[in-house]
Formats: sequence, structure tokens, C-alpha cells
Amino acid sequence: MSNELICYFNGNYLPADEIKVSPFDRGFMFADGVYEVVRIYKGRIFLMDQHRMRLDRNLAEIKIPFENTNIIMDIIFELLRKNALIGKDAVAYIQITRGHQLPRSRIFNPDTINPSLFISVNDLPLIQNSDVTSVMLFEDDRWGRCDIKTILLLPSVLASQDAASKGFGEAVWHQDGIISEGSQTNIFFVKDEKIFTPLLNKRVLPGVTRSVVINICKKLAIPLLEENIKVNELNLFKECFITGTTTEVKPVTRIDNLTVGSGRTGKITEVIQNEFYSETNDPKNLIFY
Ligand code: PDD
Repeated sequence: MSNELICYFNGNYLPADEIKVSPFDRGFMFADGVYEVVRIYKGRIFLMDQHRMRLDRNLAEIKIPFENTNIIMDIIFELLRKNALIGKDAVAYIQITRGHQLPRSRIFNPDTINPSLFISVNDLPLIQNSDVTSVMLFEDDRWGRCDIKTILLLPSVLASQDAASKGFGEAVWHQDGIISEGSQTNIFFVKDEKIFTPLLNKRVLPGVTRSVVINICKKLAIPLLEENIKVNELNLFKECFITGTTTEVKPVTRIDNLTVGSGRTGKITEVIQNEFYSETNDPKNLIFY
């Protein structure tokens, strides 16, 4: 499949194995770049504007001057067409790095930057209402700006691998006894009919799916509190779920060795999950070809 996959790189649509990236691309050398993952439901792009706004903010944060992120949507549709994914459930990966610079130097010249844009699409079957999952806790050893979606993912790669090798579905970070987020998800807990999620700060990515869940809570008048969640108080929660573009809304029934609540999908989690799936069908959230 990967050989035939047509991808976009700096103006060209090419089979993946024909794309040539400079070894001096700063993404390759320094993980100097940002990315987005966008979901496509039945060929329609879900929450494109929210992803684009986050990408623009992240580009500004790391000082990559890339103004025309408005081209991304058309490129995604063209890739869906070229890869026979029109009307299918899929996922798009978008990466912008600071681009090629020779000789290798940590210091970049803001005037001569020529960023690289890479986009790929893959089919991704619906996850909706499938299984529950388990999470493994890790001391957060990532860098200090996890609110920016950078391609600097080594701690996340190692923790995810460790969690997967022990049979867990996700790695979840904590620092000084406070839970922040998962390696590719945000996390929510339920207690006394209220939903709790970590406050946004530099250890938490402002997830697009997280904001959908917050809006659902407002709409359904379910109290939602953004506050610090302590590792040593996790046993007080009756439900837990994680959210993300590829994960959607997924019930968590085990955290390390702790069984969450009844060990099955919680009542409130199910309500949020069902409401989330109606959002994925709502034309106001979708862009059509
Ligand atoms: N990950 N936290 C982290 C560290 C993430 O990497 C992600 C997304 C999220 C959830 O954000 P959103 O709801 O906007 O997808 C939270 C993507 C999907 C990934 O790395 O593949």
C-alpha cells in the first residue's frame, strides 16, 4: 500500500517512495516543525477550521512563516481523489517543517526560511462505539511546551511503545502527581455526575476533540470542571475516557492496575460518545468536496 500511496510534498503529488526530502531539512535534523492530524468522515473533512487555526498558532509559536495554510484543504481533497478515498473514512497527516538549510546550524535566518509542507491521507475505518481501553501512567519527560503540536515526539514514541508492549492502549503523562494528558489524547474523568479534565497549560495540548466534548457538556448541561487531577486520587473517579482525532471518544476501564468504576463503559461516557458521533455527522462541522 505505502508504495502506491500518493502524497503531497512541496507542490508535487508523488508516490510516497518517490518523494525526496533533503537530509538537511530541519525537520529531519532537529524535529524543527509542527503537524496536524485531521479526520475525514465519509469523504468530508471534520473541523478543518479548528485544526487550521491551531496549526497557524503553532507555526507562529515556533516562528515558521507559513501564511497560506488555506491551501491544505484543497490538497487533502486532491489526495483523497488520487488515492481513491472519495466518500471514505480517512485521516490526513499534515506536517510543516522549517525546511532545508545548509550548513547545519541551530540558528536559522528568518529571512531565508523555505518551509516544507508534507500531506498524506490514509483510510481509517470508523472506531465509533468500539471497545474500551486501558492506560499506563508515565512521569512526564517531554519538553516544556506540550501545548504546541511539534514533531518532537521521542518521549511519546518510547512511552507508547512501552505501554503497548505491556498490553495498554495509551500512555498517560503526569508531573508532580498531576495528570496532564495522553501521548495522543486528552483525558476526562467522571465523579458525582460531573466531568473533570486537566486545565490547559504548557503540559496539555488544546485538543480539537477536547473542545468538542466541552461544547457537548455545555449543550447537555453536564457540569464540566477544568482542574488539577491528582494521581493519588484517581480511585475516586467512577468513569474515565480519552479523546483525540484518531481515538475519538474512548472509554478507559483500567489505569495501571486500578479498575475504573465498574470496569465497563460508564453511563456519562456513553452519552458523550453518542453525542460526539452525531457531531461527526453534523454538516456545520464538515467540509464537502
Ligand atoms: N494527537 N494530546 C496530544 C499529545 C496529542 O498528540 C493529541 C492528538 C491530542 C488530542 O488532540 P486532538 O483532539 O486535536 O486530536 C492530545 C494526534 C491525533 C496524533 O498525534 O496522531
